[in-house]
Amino acid sequence: MIDSITNILTTVTPPVDNGTFWLPRAASTVAEEVDFTFALITWICYFFFAAIVISMVWFCIKYRRKSPTMVCEGPTHNTALEVTWTVIPLLLVAVIFTVGMKGYLNLREAPEGCYEVQVTGQKWSWTFSHPEFGASQVAELTVPVGKPIRLLMTSNDVLHSVWIPDFRVKMDVVPGRYTSLWFEATKVGVYQLKCSEYCGKDHSKMFATVHVIPADEFDAVMIKLASEYEDMSVSQLPAYAINRLYNRCVSCHSLDGTSGTGPSFRGLWDRVSSGQVGFSSGEILSSLLGDATLYGEPENYVRESLLFPQKHIVKGYLGSMPSFQGQLKEKQILAIIEMFKHLDEITDEEGNITVNLDGTPTE
Ligand code: CUA
Repeated sequence: MIDSITNILTTVTPPVDNGTFWLPRAASTVAEEVDFTFALITWICYFFFAAIVISMVWFCIKYRRKSPTMVCEGPTHNTALEVTWTVIPLLLVAVIFTVGMKGYLNLREAPEGCYEVQVTGQKWSWTFSHPEFGASQVAELTVPVGKPIRLLMTSNDVLHSVWIPDFRVKMDVVPGRYTSLWFEATKVGVYQLKCSEYCGKDHSKMFATVHVIPADEFDAVMIKLASEYEDMSVSQLPAYAINRLYNRCVSCHSLDGTSGTGPSFRGLWDRVSSGQVGFSSGEILSSLLGDATLYGEPENYVRESLLFPQKHIVKGYLGSMPSFQGQLKEKQILAIIEMFKHLDEITDEEGNITVNLDGTPTE
């Protein structure tokens, strides 16, 4: 009996903070201010909606036409009334402007000493670089709690927009220029980052996860992230690539054999190594493999596809692949090639990833 009670007590989890009816949970220092402004404007609207509708209905009844012969005197004016309904809204918009402007300036001006992350949007994923550590992350952003973070953002192709609803921040990401955004997370946890600017077919899949971790663990995590693949043996690379790099490919290349914006990765290595790939130019890969040919080894074709994807476009596709030149280190390219070679061992038929980063099977 006691056991079962303690069991219940220990399994009760703290209530999940799902936010309010209007807003998601608030997890940054600016959230409170944003929510206050939102609540202020909403309550002003509630009040005037009720006041206007009630008086309208009451006037309709009180001043209705009471007999068919009734004639009105025609409209006149009332100075006191008109001044009142001009001055009250004027004061209200002045208050809303002041509160809104204060919040806007706070959101736009990053505090001194921010930790900086460089963000690149590209159809359809996010890359986060940590220049301080030489680490980069794909579709995942790890930041310390309680420290102001500044995102310096640009796009490699079209307009995107970074939006982290729980932090109440959003900013356009523009090709050919930088924009910035800052926030300070107040709670350790996992948050969603979304693209909020329609950017093409897979806009709705352009997500990233924000991991807010304790500040004293942050440096160690970053140092590990920066060098984790450097020390890996070749046999560890497929698990690394599928868990760390595939995020960058997922919106276009499936793992289950279905065609997307690009060809599926399932069976890709079989097709490539046997040369069974036709290009839109009419060439066939098999004629480019072997001694004294363009590629020689099939690995070179994969390498070229990552760095210069427009050189040979697979027949039936539009060639929307961006270049990964400068984004992938040599060992990471090798990791992707190894991932293709061992795809059957690290994913199942339905395209689910079956290994963790350390090579252990997933649940
Ligand atoms: Cu990127 Cu929508």
